[in-house]
Amino acid sequence: MAPDDSVRGAAGGAGDSAGDMVLGGGGGLKPYFNQDGITIYHGDCFDVLPEIHGADLLILDPPFNLGKSYGDGTDDNKPEDEYWTWYCEVLKTTWESLADDALGYLFHSDKGVYEAKPLALSTGWAYIQTLIWYGPNGFRGYTAANKSAAWSYLHEPILYLSKGNGVDARAKPAWFGSVIPVPRPQSNFREGRVHVAQKPLGLLRRLINFQEATFILDPFMGSGTTLRAAKDLGQKAIGIEIEERYCEIAAKRMEQQVLTPEVATQEGLL
Ligand SMILES: C[S@@+](CC[C@H](N)C(=O)[O-])C[C@H]1O[C@@H](n2cnc3c(N)ncnc32)[C@H](O)[C@@H]1O
Repeated sequence: MAPDDSVRGAAGGAGDSAGDMVLGGGGGLKPYFNQDGITIYHGDCFDVLPEIHGADLLILDPPFNLGKSYGDGTDDNKPEDEYWTWYCEVLKTTWESLADDALGYLFHSDKGVYEAKPLALSTGWAYIQTLIWYGPNGFRGYTAANKSAAWSYLHEPILYLSKGNGVDARAKPAWFGSVIPVPRPQSNFREGRVHVAQKPLGLLRRLINFQEATFILDPFMGSGTTLRAAKDLGQKAIGIEIEERYCEIAAKRMEQQVLTPEVATQEGLL
């Protein structure tokens, strides 16, 4: 089903939610897309987040300051100090949009996670665990042109945190391993590769499936992987993205085929 054009527009416009409930308040913001419990805001998350309240699962996958080209809205090559000051602001602003029992999955780079963790704890997050996303088709490491790492990066750490006491009381009673093996999106895969830092759907589905959420918040939505995974699992989610072309891509992804029983079984979701 094509997304309803009446709900597309820049954040800040007058609200028309096409009859679908706007999650988390939303204030006077106009969603870019709002259907079946999935809401996309096009705009700067610092402007949108103050209007959102009560999310109880945060997926935080911001630019890692690794020099990627996301678009005019992002400088991903900031001086280190400036980047971590910005990251602190992200943590503080996001915190205010969350329910008291919220849980968070915070992505960062192999190096960045050592800075991100103490900053998250000083914001108030309690540490539960570090998960590892293992993507066997990872980055190249040491070459003549790239002497930054001797070993190829096949993993990314994910800080698993709680806004409460460091316990996930909502976790399902099941066995899930802390290393999550899912290949990185490639253009020749069925889900395709439509974003420079796209996370695989299978990874987000596994994270989100671990507990029920009232609604999930992804302030750096990119191509909408979190939202697509939420939709597949019948959960509600809000995504915010500064680049309109990614909002467009994410809205299109909401129309694609839902999760098949075969894939759900393969991923241990059933
Ligand atoms: C690491 S990517 C997220 C990728 C996403 N998880 C996916 O699977 O496609 C970060 C995204 O944040 C967006 N972004 C950067 N600054 C932003 C801001 N202030 N507000 C909202 N989005 C922002 C970038 O355009 C980029 O698409």
